[in-house]
Amino acid sequence: MDKMVIEGGNPLQGKIQVGGAKNAALPIIAACLLAEGWHRLYNVPHLRDVETLKGIMSKLGVEFRRDGNALEINSSNLRDYNAPYELVKTMRASIVLLGPLLARYGKARISLPGGCAIGERPVNLHLKALSAMGVEMWLDHGYINAHADRLKGVDIFFDIPTVTGTENIMMAAVMAEGETTLRNVAREPEIQDLADMLRHMGAKIEGDGTDTIVIQGVTDLRPARHTIIPDRIESGTFMIAAAMTRGEVEIEGCCPKHLGALMERLESAGTKLDITPNGILVKGPDVIKSVDVKTTPFPGFPTDLQAQFMTLMCISKGWSTITETVFENRFIHVSELKRMGAEIEINGNRALVRGKEQLFSAPVMATDLRASASLILAGLVAKGGKTEVHRIYHLDRGYEALEKKFEALGATIWREKV
Ligand code: EPZ
Repeated sequence: MDKMVIEGGNPLQGKIQVGGAKNAALPIIAACLLAEGWHRLYNVPHLRDVETLKGIMSKLGVEFRRDGNALEINSSNLRDYNAPYELVKTMRASIVLLGPLLARYGKARISLPGGCAIGERPVNLHLKALSAMGVEMWLDHGYINAHADRLKGVDIFFDIPTVTGTENIMMAAVMAEGETTLRNVAREPEIQDLADMLRHMGAKIEGDGTDTIVIQGVTDLRPARHTIIPDRIESGTFMIAAAMTRGEVEIEGCCPKHLGALMERLESAGTKLDITPNGILVKGPDVIKSVDVKTTPFPGFPTDLQAQFMTLMCISKGWSTITETVFENRFIHVSELKRMGAEIEINGNRALVRGKEQLFSAPVMATDLRASASLILAGLVAKGGKTEVHRIYHLDRGYEALEKKFEALGATIWREKV
């Protein structure tokens, strides 16, 4: 178990290169199950979640070759279709194996992903759509058993625009019989990146990025090369860090069109943003204005940046409300921030934040991936000594060498073994 130690007070200065998007890499790696031969993916981040998915797929017989930021994948010699609980419980996104396994092999046995710190995380919409496509499913001992002779194209409406639900059904539909129309789907950039990868493999997909995706089933797909999009949540985390520390940082390699909602809120809070040829230049304001935020599916404000933005509001001038509409329990970071002097009151899915002059260093505990990031950000500005963030294995799931990147920007931060 490692902890992160931060001595706050340094304004961040310089340039930082963001990595490939975790939430694009995971479904795209799973999509390599759909076609035999060597796929080659570029800009694949070195993250715990990527390693977990590789571990599960290796057990199924998939071969991997790492070459720096490139990852080569070959699923020609698949020998199993069982994703075990011991691995799935550490990463519920493993559910994205269900669609490709059914499309390629007609069967899958995947541990039902449990909930996690931020919510129950049901997969009922995934299963409802698959059953409409002709998949027979039954649950036993916590596992989803699924079987389908041939998936058939259908017209499916999603009650909620689920990101991995949309991804799972896209992958199930690309070789289904006939046409599939997916309505009220998620519109996140990671959905479009998966669609691009599937098109490189020969799939016929239109409408990704809108609320309706139409897929014509094809008989087979081929291995492909693909570059993963930049991680908009890592980019946003650095932008907020620059704003909080009143620094000046250029976030290189990020995609401004993926960050519209955050950019609008940061500018309303007084942050100066300039689009540069390489990315976005962020200048922190002397006075951080209090602004309200409500998380919604893309293109709205991302739930994955809610904890980080709340930390910014903790040192703003005035009152702000943070409303979380995507997950039912995504305020776990609040109690830890309050231990650092933040003034926050929770009322249902709404947090009322009263900005304070400053936060104070303290030992705190990470509980989920993005909450960990918000505590690191708080440590970067906390006064009065060292902030220690414990259980940062949560952080390593979604951020690659975060302390090294912050150190390169002038932060006093290091990792210690506990
Ligand atoms: C993806 O999770 C991301 N993970 C999450 O990022 C992100 O927070 C989330 O989308 C929302 O943007 C990956 O892409 C690997 P959802 P996902 O299905 O797909 C409900 C991070 O920090 N729902 O879009 O699991 C669900 O309970 C992670 O990188 C159902 O009710 O989220 C939630 O309230 C955290 N039934 C809402 O929909 C279902 O069958 C949105 O969930 C599916 C979802």
